[in-house]
Amino acid sequence: MNFEILHFSSVSSTQEIAKMILRENVVVVADEQREGRGRKGRRWFSPYGGLWMTVILKDFNSHLLTLAAGIAVAKTLESFGVKAKIKWPNDILIEGKKVAGILAEKHKDFVLLGIGVNLENEIPEEIKDLATNVSIKREEFLLAFLEILEEELKKDKEDILEDWREYECTLGKKVSVDDELVGIARDIDDDGFLILEVNGRRERITAGTLRFLE
Ligand code: BTN
Repeated sequence: MNFEILHFSSVSSTQEIAKMILRENVVVVADEQREGRGRKGRRWFSPYGGLWMTVILKDFNSHLLTLAAGIAVAKTLESFGVKAKIKWPNDILIEGKKVAGILAEKHKDFVLLGIGVNLENEIPEEIKDLATNVSIKREEFLLAFLEILEEELKKDKEDILEDWREYECTLGKKVSVDDELVGIARDIDDDGFLILEVNGRRERITAGTLRFLE
C-alpha cells in the first residue's frame, strides 16, 4: 500500500489538513493539534508527545474501516507488550480507560481516518478518570501501526469482524447508548453494527457512545 507520511508541527486538526491534500494512502501526522476533534463534536486533547494522524483512504465502507483501524491500534499495542481492548465500535481501552480513539469522516470520494493515541503526552487532569496513556515512542508506534493496518485492510469483512471479536470487551455487558437506550450488548451483525437486547427485543445500533453500566 506504501503509505506516504507527511509530518506537520502544529495544526488545527489533521482532519482539516487531510481535506486539503486528498491523496489516497497519505498519512498526515502532527506533533500537536490546536483543535483536535473527537466523535460527536467533542474536543480531543492533542498536546505534544501523542500520535495524532489522519490516514487518507478511498471510500469503501467507513464503518468497517474504523473497526479495522481499532483492531490495528490494539494489535500494535500488543506488539509493544500492552494489553488493550476495544469498546464498540472503536474506543481502545487499557484497564477500562481510553488510550486511543478513531474518527472516520467522509469527504468527497475519500474516508479520512483520524486516529489519536495517547502516548508520551500529558493527560489533562479533568479526564484522568477516563483516559490513559502508554510510554511508547511515537515514531516506533506509527511505523508498526501502519504495517499492521495495511494487513488488516487487505482482509475481507468476515476476517475483520473475527479479529474485532478477539479484542472486544463489549459483548455480554449491560450498556447505555448515548445515555438514552439501555440494554445488553448481544452481538455484532455482518456489517459490524451492534445488536442490543432491549426488554427482549433486538435493536440494531449503527452509531453511538456506549457506557458500561456494570
Ligand atoms: C474519539 O474517540 O472521539 C475520536 C478521536 C479522534 C482523534 C483523532 S487525533 C487525529 C485526528 N484529528 C482530529 O482532530 N481527530 C482525530
